[in-house]
Amino acid sequence: MAHPSRPVACVALPIPEATLHRLREKLEVRQLAPGFDRDALHAALDGASGLLCSNLLPIDGELFDAAPALRVVSNFGVGFDNVDVAEASARGVAICNTPGVLSEAVADLTMLLILAAARRMLENASFVTGGGWSRGEARPPLGFDLAGKTLGIVGFGRIGQAVARRALVFGMNVAYQDVLDDPRVGFETCLQCDIEDLLRRSDVVSLHVNLSPQTHHLIGHEQLEQMKSTAWLVNTSRGPVVDQAALVDALRRGAIAGAALDVLEEEPPALHDPILSLPNVILLPHVGSATIETRQAMLDLAVENLLASLDDRMPPACVNPEALGRHEIQRGGSP
Ligand code: DGY
Repeated sequence: MAHPSRPVACVALPIPEATLHRLREKLEVRQLAPGFDRDALHAALDGASGLLCSNLLPIDGELFDAAPALRVVSNFGVGFDNVDVAEASARGVAICNTPGVLSEAVADLTMLLILAAARRMLENASFVTGGGWSRGEARPPLGFDLAGKTLGIVGFGRIGQAVARRALVFGMNVAYQDVLDDPRVGFETCLQCDIEDLLRRSDVVSLHVNLSPQTHHLIGHEQLEQMKSTAWLVNTSRGPVVDQAALVDALRRGAIAGAALDVLEEEPPALHDPILSLPNVILLPHVGSATIETRQAMLDLAVENLLASLDDRMPPACVNPEALGRHEIQRGGSP
């Protein structure tokens, strides 16, 4: 195949024309059509040194085999649980993501779920639209105040802290647990504790950890049993952080009051997934970062990560910086 003089980048997610134009100024761009299959992806990756993709695309040994010239994968999203990072590093492929720019949007959505749970928003809204109010039927039960209640935040990184700031304004007490032991500056009024203590004392538990082998099913049967029977579980992180079968069981038995979830173990869920038919759940279709401004900021960062890496500059957000510049060395060339 002909070797273009400019680096080839494969774009495996829909992006606006203006962004494509920006990329085309520097790169030879291969844009994949929505719904592309594995063969189309592998064909587009042949000779490509960059890949811009959604963080739903599995990035593993098979993909690296199909893309021996790949130097950078720029993930559109902060989560990178779709990537085999060890394999990427071994092959000298830099993995970039979009931290920071979506923290406020995800924290807003988390507060929305907490408020919706506390004020029984779904039941009250369908009481109106379903005609219950007009027909004079009994109103849904009362909700609960946030002020004075305890929010337990599992994972106290950027997003967890942005949620804490909002909860404090609502008058909530905040407890947090994190893998890092040092207390966080600016959160002296919050209680740092272990996860068991957090689960036992919280009225709402909100999850803000990365998905990794260590956090897979972090919340299972045992942890749900430790929660108050009046407590809600909120998850805007990744579905597999919660053992969903254990959650469904806990919700059916009334072991906890409810769950407000933006993420599920299987996305989208199968039509007959039992989580869809429980009365005490609030479900959203993974929209934590889904605002115009935030998605634009994520795209800008993902594009800059791609361009900088292919231009041998330090990308703004790289999860395995040790891989930068290693590609040629791994393949026996000069760094
Ligand atoms: C992220 O950025 O990881 C969000 O979950 C959107 O995918």
